Amino acid sequence: MATYDTLGVRYTRTRQPDPRIAAQIHAALADATTVINVGAGAGSYEPPRTVLAVEPSKVMIAQRPPGAAPAVQAVAERLPLPDNAADAVMALLTVHHWTDLAAGISELRRVARRRVVILTWDQRFFRERFWLVRDYLPEAAALDDTRAIPPDQLIDLLGGGRQEPVCIPHDCTDGFGAAYWRRPHAYLDPQVRAGISMLAQTGDGALETGLTRLAADLTAGRWHIRHSELLTLETIDVGYRLLVTDH
Ligand SMILES: C[S@@+](CC[C@H](N)C(=O)[O-])C[C@H]1O[C@@H](n2cnc3c(N)ncnc32)[C@H](O)[C@@H]1O
Repeated sequence: MATYDTLGVRYTRTRQPDPRIAAQIHAALADATTVINVGAGAGSYEPPRTVLAVEPSKVMIAQRPPGAAPAVQAVAERLPLPDNAADAVMALLTVHHWTDLAAGISELRRVARRRVVILTWDQRFFRERFWLVRDYLPEAAALDDTRAIPPDQLIDLLGGGRQEPVCIPHDCTDGFGAAYWRRPHAYLDPQVRAGISMLAQTGDGALETGLTRLAADLTAGRWHIRHSELLTLETIDVGYRLLVTDH
């Protein structure tokens, strides 16, 4: 949580919810009329039916927009809420930060009357499919290797459920790790990197060699030759997964 008190300061500059990803998440919440958002950050992707956000970082809570659902400062592992507090509970790009994953997932299931929705990613798939970490910045992938949770493990902890690929549009407005897969110059921008936790936490010192190589490949046109097929795609699957379970 202290991490996001630091990272979060510049976080929302490049992190505007993408409407296509929002539509997929909101569809996964189905007919739930009340939703609790755990690890809510600044409130990205919260549908209007959100009744409460749970977030440990004061800095992130302070960046919630006016009119957003009320927020309580707490961790997933100990939700200050009764059983069955809302129809659905969602946890987006947060489970990899939790100190006790099993306790956190058990809390989501306790508080959700019916449905739990988790947005996460498959790190093995991500490493293989995403050119930035595969070809230029393996150091950044190494950090996530230590904390990414395999979706199958989450499904087991949830007691079952389905996985939906979340494909990333080429003009994704939410500047997370793979958002700029078809806009490679963006990764050379320190402000873009500041909004991506795997890069911000790895630090520019460790990324310098890879970024210099990327800049040279872009200038020489080598990146575009090597990745010409990417330039024809509208969306890409690099391993982001929406996990949906009912109980
Ligand atoms: C990558 S951000 C995602 C925020 C938001 N869900 C989104 O999709 O934009 C991860 C969030 O998880 C929060 N977090 C870290 N540890 C947590 C914990 N133990 N319980 C709940 N949230 C936690 C961080 O403070 C941060 O706001």
